[in-house]
Amino acid sequence: MLRQVLLAVSRSDRARRVVSTSPLTRDVVKRYVAGDVEGAVAELTDRRLLVTVDHLGEEVSDRAQAEGAVEDYLQIIGRLPAGADVSVKLTALGLRLSEQLALDNAASICEAATARGLTLTLDAEEHDTIAGLHSVHATLRKEHPDVGVVVQSYLRDSVERCIRLAELDDVRVRLCKGAYTAPGAHKSSGEIDRAYVRCLKALMAGNGYPMVATHDPRLIEIASALAVINGRDATGFEYQMLYGVRPAEQERLAEQGAQVRVYVPYGSDWYAYLMRRLAERPANLAFFARSLVSRG
Ligand code: FDA
Repeated sequence: MLRQVLLAVSRSDRARRVVSTSPLTRDVVKRYVAGDVEGAVAELTDRRLLVTVDHLGEEVSDRAQAEGAVEDYLQIIGRLPAGADVSVKLTALGLRLSEQLALDNAASICEAATARGLTLTLDAEEHDTIAGLHSVHATLRKEHPDVGVVVQSYLRDSVERCIRLAELDDVRVRLCKGAYTAPGAHKSSGEIDRAYVRCLKALMAGNGYPMVATHDPRLIEIASALAVINGRDATGFEYQMLYGVRPAEQERLAEQGAQVRVYVPYGSDWYAYLMRRLAERPANLAFFARSLVSRG
């Protein structure tokens, strides 16, 4: 219930104005959003963690904004080390205006990323953008086979989707639980987790490169066991976690020799991202409220 409310608030312009302009939210934002993205990347890289960088922003309403988002990505790509990944939301590249526009914009970012030894992963957003997401991914893969895509296990067709993707050679698939809401989606954590495991089984047994995006200790253990069962060594898959979430676990896995990539969001358009992080964990709301009260 609280989750639904926070996700609804994440789409409210009025709440966005109030929260975004309040100096009181600064501490909470700092936990989840990198203020100095290059500094954060350097620090994570020093700790043998890989990175994927997200220039925050989504749902543009005109072509100029979408072109601005492309420009932001081209700039950061020029400043990231080889081996880094960039995470891109197609709605920021104009998906809701036209699929072709989002495809062209994503292709420009892909070309720049490839030229610098970086990869690109397409984030999964609201349920009504998922068909467009996979259509753009399939087209981009023809020129850029290493472009990655996200699957949300809460969607009813996630397992079938993973089975189909797993047949493609070297496909990079990031599996997460899902941070939005969708009609008909799995709701209970048990259902979402069971779907996650079935997706993991398909991806680990398949021809691609699974990217296990979760902080859930049980799913991390299952992923590690499935990798062994399927003869994948540490280079055959990676764990992914969000900046500011379970940093000690990120380091522990990396110290054990696993590949761990941290999702580093940056930029001023952090509102919707922050609300999704608060919605994921009720305790975060108390943390948020405490920080407001202690500053107020
Ligand atoms: P779960 O929510 O059950 O959390 C497990 C444990 O992790 C919690 O008990 C807590 O300890 C910790 N934790 C989780 N979230 C936390 C938070 N916000 N703050 C503090 N602690 C927290 N979603 C999506 O719809 N589209 C996408 O493209 C992506 N992309 C993406 C990339 C990467 C690298 C990650 C890690 C996640 C995403 N997500 C996403 C978000 C994802 O769908 C999901 O909402 C979150 O990862 C939380 O789910 P967990 O699997 O971590 O489990």
